[in-house]
Amino acid sequence: MRKKIVAGNWKMNKTFGEAEKLIADIAASLEGMELKDTEVILCPPFVYLEMATDIAEESKFRVGAQNMNDHDLGAFTGEISAIMLNSLDVKYVIIGHSERRQHYNENHEFLAGKVNAAIRHQIQPIFCCGEILAEREAGTHFTIVKKQLDDSVFQLLPEHFKQVILAYEPVWAIGTGVNATPEQAQEMHLYIRETIAEKYDRQIADDTTILYGGSCNSKNARELFIQPDVDGGLIGGSSLKADEFIAVVTSL
Ligand code: 13P
Repeated sequence: MRKKIVAGNWKMNKTFGEAEKLIADIAASLEGMELKDTEVILCPPFVYLEMATDIAEESKFRVGAQNMNDHDLGAFTGEISAIMLNSLDVKYVIIGHSERRQHYNENHEFLAGKVNAAIRHQIQPIFCCGEILAEREAGTHFTIVKKQLDDSVFQLLPEHFKQVILAYEPVWAIGTGVNATPEQAQEMHLYIRETIAEKYDRQIADDTTILYGGSCNSKNARELFIQPDVDGGLIGGSSLKADEFIAVVTSL
């Protein structure tokens, strides 16, 4: 059975004090909840990871990073490695977010290197894929997503691919208030699952968690999460307020 996940990607938001309060509020709400097979993951900025993992030890959420480098150590000023994340007990990392592809020119090859480094150090990649508006309008969205998977995650051996969590995030839906319709999300998630089955096998495809991301909030989460191939969400804006984020978690 595949895991259901709601992950909050805070992006570049919150001061230390605000971050501490948000994590404490979320932890307090989760305390009284029966999460069953749902995992809640918070991905704050790097500088708050240690504080977050300290609180997580006594709480029902896990901690992920928003990025990492593909090298293990060395002269890479400003970068953070999988070894460092591992040493803080950070077990997840977002890789391939469209904002990093777009603003920092992260290409397929670099992303493949990051995925490999994460796997080497037992950190589960949350690998993002998704098309831009022009690609959807041109009808090339399936081809684009397939290429992103082909070039950055399908190089993994089956036993390693099993560690990967995927997130379909149509770029036109990120931060725009326009989410993919449940039908659009389901159609792409099913396509991704069938692509995994073709590349690996049916069992691996059925066991892969595929999250939806892009203007997912407390109002639309339920209808998205109810789709058979949508296994939860990667949440941006709506992960920045405790009540709103918890409402998304309870929609799963
Ligand atoms: P929004 O939920 O703000 O659209 O962001 C989605 C996202 O990019 C999560 O990684």
